[in-house]
Amino acid sequence: MADARAELGQYFTPRPIVDFAMDALSGLGARFDGACVLDPACGPGEWLCAALERGAAQAIGVDCDPAMIAAWREAPALPGGGCHVIIADALLPGALPAGAFDFVVGNPPFGAELRDSREATLRRMAAHYHLPWRDGRQRSSPSGGDLERLRRIPTELLFLERFVELCRPGGWIAVVLPEGLLANSRWSHARRWLLRTVTVHAVIALPREAFRAHATSASTCLLLMERRPPAAGHLVALAGVTECASAAFAELLAALQRGGDVVGEPPDGLLPPPLFRT
Ligand SMILES: C[S@@+](CC[C@H](N)C(=O)[O-])C[C@H]1O[C@@H](n2cnc3c(N)ncnc32)[C@H](O)[C@@H]1O
Repeated sequence: MADARAELGQYFTPRPIVDFAMDALSGLGARFDGACVLDPACGPGEWLCAALERGAAQAIGVDCDPAMIAAWREAPALPGGGCHVIIADALLPGALPAGAFDFVVGNPPFGAELRDSREATLRRMAAHYHLPWRDGRQRSSPSGGDLERLRRIPTELLFLERFVELCRPGGWIAVVLPEGLLANSRWSHARRWLLRTVTVHAVIALPREAFRAHATSASTCLLLMERRPPAAGHLVALAGVTECASAAFAELLAALQRGGDVVGEPPDGLLPPPLFRT
């Protein structure tokens, strides 16, 4: 496979994390059998392979890097057998149909740059996305300052909104995000939007070693969500894993399925720092 490119945020997800995410969603009631699964930033396609192994009828991957084509050819389940991979910028409004996928899963780039930051594209994005703006209102006539803000916005914030938008109502989302998005006061408006818009079932702090193979020890979390507004009194499970091994994830899966102790009310943000790790 081509070397991972840091400027595209190419930190590929280890299989124990992918398997855990899929099995945890199944434990929450999600059904992969016959489903249509999308990874909007699919890299070599690990999440798509895992979905096909669990009976998904269609697995669709998008990546902006043509170098990924070689990796897809090497993966036994990709392409073919219900799998389609597309070279495109998944953040561009109109690139993919909204609300069309039973599952939207993956690990979008973080610390990456917008692929296309020409003014005309930024204007389309300003009119499309809510989360770049603290008031949550899209900008149909963005100012120069608005365009500048958008040019510097963390792409993971746009991908978070995009994952939710692409998932069908009642569908399921598993997404890896940097912990900062879930804990920094700067992004509290995004967390409020998320907690209103979807049912966040669990936030799992991932081991720092998870992406060490790609020379980053960023703190990351896995969010497991359902695209429906939360029921009154819904509680979010917060947990953590310190070792990127199947056994550690199996233990956590069992603990989640047993149901843990309720230790408090759901926080206004998702992760009241410091995040408690098991
Ligand atoms: C963090 S990697 C994750 C890959 C895979 N989902 C995984 O978990 O192993 C993010 C991928 O997104 C791709 N990417 C970056 N910006 C993108 C964009 N705007 N649209 C589609 N793909 C993008 C990168 O090339 C990279 O392969």
